[in-house]
Amino acid sequence: MKYNFLRHDRHDDAVTYQMINELENICSIPLYIYRGDDACRNAVEIQGYLGEDVRLCYAVKANCYLAESLADVIEDFEVSSRGELEYCLGNGVPAEKISYSGVWKTDLEVKMALDAGVKRFIPDSLKQLQMIQNLAEKKGETVDVWLRLSSGNQFGMNIREIAQIFAKKQTDFNINMAGIHYYAGTQRQFVYQVEKDFQPLAEGLAYLKERGISFSKIRLGGGMGVPLYQNDSVRTYEETADYLFGFVRKLSEHYRITYECGRAIASNAGRYITKVFEKKQRENREILLVQGGSHHLKYHGNIVGQKTPFIECVAREERQGEQTYMVCGSLCSAGDILAMKFLHSCVEIGDYMIFYHVGAYSLQEAAILFLKMEMPDILVYNGNNSERKLLELGWISREKGNI
Ligand SMILES: Cc1ncc(COP(=O)(O)O)c(C=O)c1O
Repeated sequence: MKYNFLRHDRHDDAVTYQMINELENICSIPLYIYRGDDACRNAVEIQGYLGEDVRLCYAVKANCYLAESLADVIEDFEVSSRGELEYCLGNGVPAEKISYSGVWKTDLEVKMALDAGVKRFIPDSLKQLQMIQNLAEKKGETVDVWLRLSSGNQFGMNIREIAQIFAKKQTDFNINMAGIHYYAGTQRQFVYQVEKDFQPLAEGLAYLKERGISFSKIRLGGGMGVPLYQNDSVRTYEETADYLFGFVRKLSEHYRITYECGRAIASNAGRYITKVFEKKQRENREILLVQGGSHHLKYHGNIVGQKTPFIECVAREERQGEQTYMVCGSLCSAGDILAMKFLHSCVEIGDYMIFYHVGAYSLQEAAILFLKMEMPDILVYNGNNSERKLLELGWISREKGNI
């Protein structure tokens, strides 16, 4: 099946040199543009394939800046830290839509969530479950709980622990044992990876059934991948998505499913825009140096630009001739290579470059503090001439008087 959320060029409107140049009057370059309308379209598309019985959840860790736009179309937001919790509550995501998970929790954070009105929790351990229960009891609240089943990594609990908790806690106050939670990993490109991922889930469900333990709900994520590089085969991602949607629909015949998804919703809703400030020649190499760099941009699995992401150069004027460039950022690090081989018509200093598919886990996972360089500006736009919201600002914008 062909999926729009897998396309790197989801936007309908082409970006011109003039458009970026005008943007430079209000914000700084490098700049992240997140399109809330594209994220919403991805969510609606994915919901369509999951079917109406499955609840779609946005994993906020993929990109919290899209949460506000998504709040109109998504009923469930998986939040994994105090920072994400505060950001969502302060930016248009109501507490009733939040499911609180994550590896690390303090009493204070759980209390904050309860006080705000969060009613869904995903404990990572027995200790966390007890903390949630104690605090819910003090508050006189009952909350829904999904126990995280480990896929074999450091997260969650093993199936024996889960069986014991179910057997004991079914009758406890303040905790409604809704079901289990399962997530194995991200950026899955092949069906065999997802089949392997779900093996512990299938075994876990069988184990609980044999012991007469029943529950009605499962939350799970499939780690749906998206093609990030020019040589990626879209076909394998399509097959993986076909498999995942089929798997979830089938499971929803027996359980009430919440499907957690981050990358597939956010990825093509983000673009990073930067500018060429220098050109150099080294032996046979043509090098382009751009503002910003790998401290702002992370592509899953790309080591020193060995793979070429979807990049476009927006030139000041049309030029003849083609050239292969090495594209480097502005860090004092020989590893700050964004692409080893980028083939494009002639690029000059002052041209802009757009990096695609960076709406998920790109800025979020980058080494932002290196050299204490400037943060990129972050602009969120919902299309149709809606207001453009500058959310985070680097110092150039502050000097321009934007805040
Ligand atoms: C528990 C959980 N759910 C959902 C997700 C989202 O996964 P993806 O972005 O691969 O869809 C993650 C990502 O790490 C996660 O840890």
